Amino acid sequence: VIRVSHGTLVSFATDVFVACGLPRRRAACAAEALCYADAVGMDTHGIANLESIYVTQLRTGAIAADAQLHTVGAEGCVAVLDACGGLGLWVGAEAMDRAVALAKQHGVGAVAVRNSTHLGATGFYARRATNEHCIGIAMSNCGAQRIAPSPAGGAPVLGTNPLAIAVPGGDFPPFVLDMSTTVMPAGRVRAAAAAGERLPVGVLARSDGEPETDPRAYERGEASLLWLGSDPRTGAHKGFGLGLAVDLLAGLLSGAATGPASEPGLPDRDVGHFFVAVEIAKFREPDAFISGFDEIAFSLCEASCQEGAAYPGGPEAATRAERERDGVPLPAHVIEMLDRVGLSCGVAADGVMSA
Ligand SMILES: NC(=O)c1ccc[n+]([C@@H]2O[C@H](COP(=O)([O-])OP(=O)(O)OC[C@H]3O[C@@H](n4cnc5c(N)ncnc54)[C@H](O)[C@@H]3O)[C@@H](O)[C@H]2O)c1
Repeated sequence: VIRVSHGTLVSFATDVFVACGLPRRRAACAAEALCYADAVGMDTHGIANLESIYVTQLRTGAIAADAQLHTVGAEGCVAVLDACGGLGLWVGAEAMDRAVALAKQHGVGAVAVRNSTHLGATGFYARRATNEHCIGIAMSNCGAQRIAPSPAGGAPVLGTNPLAIAVPGGDFPPFVLDMSTTVMPAGRVRAAAAAGERLPVGVLARSDGEPETDPRAYERGEASLLWLGSDPRTGAHKGFGLGLAVDLLAGLLSGAATGPASEPGLPDRDVGHFFVAVEIAKFREPDAFISGFDEIAFSLCEASCQEGAAYPGGPEAATRAERERDGVPLPAHVIEMLDRVGLSCGVAADGVMSA
């Protein structure tokens, strides 16, 4: 494991996106979104995906580097955008900024996006709204891609459909719930397979319903991801309901592809997102809200005797502080990938390699 400064990663990813044809401002925005995941410890959704998802799809044209973010409709606090196949990492940031601007005007802003691509860590976009004293809600489906079957079994019908809600704090880190609606995202199963680790019971099941702990069985198509709750007897229908809710809001409402209405075996094209910003000041005196938040956070920390893991967002804040100080730990295979990407894009990876 080699530690690389977060700033070095962001500027490397920016240069790679520019080399792939993105305008520099857009590239910098996308790199910030991508490397947020590395800063906060969502390692399966950060720079590790630079080649496998983003560079590959930018090269094949599956992601359009120069896409225009087109407004399909706008009325009151609502906007519907067509991302025209643009890079989800940039599209998501722009769309959340639009939701925040609408919230400043109307109290609430809601922006639905169709025809987008993979947006990485959903928490980045929800968290972005908190910088503007708003509550942020962000969600994304996986376009036409079907990854997990319903708790009733059968063929896969939905993606891992992530959902994030962020609420700003004062002296305490913000609440940032950022999660796949399946027990784990597919990326974490693949990472466990690459590391030769087994998964806990409750993440995967074979088609006969028996638990599977070998992540390679998932890669071979012999096991499926389970929804939050794992089993119908322990609430898997609630996780599935959340995943379907994300498909209905981010996919159906925006006019993007949805899992259930797509053919099996399609990739994650025509991804849909849904962003909501809530301007706290339009509901409650902001100082009272923030001090109320801190009171809740304090009680949670006291009750659990933990500072860093008392509520969602706490672990990310602790990891961020540590990685800003010591750098982001990257395994050898990620460093090799960055070197390969740098070479193929004509971007010097010296800063990454010499870290
Ligand atoms: N773009 C996509 O298609 C896609 C699909 C699925 C997931 N994702 C992303 O993958 C990333 C990882 O998702 P995940 O479900 O593995 O997240 P996770 O299980 O690591 O964390 C989920 C939530 O639980 C909280 N949490 C975790 N451990 C905690 C603890 N000990 N105490 C208190 N809170 C704790 C975290 O703060 C987070 O809000 C997310 O950024 C998600 O948005 C993206």
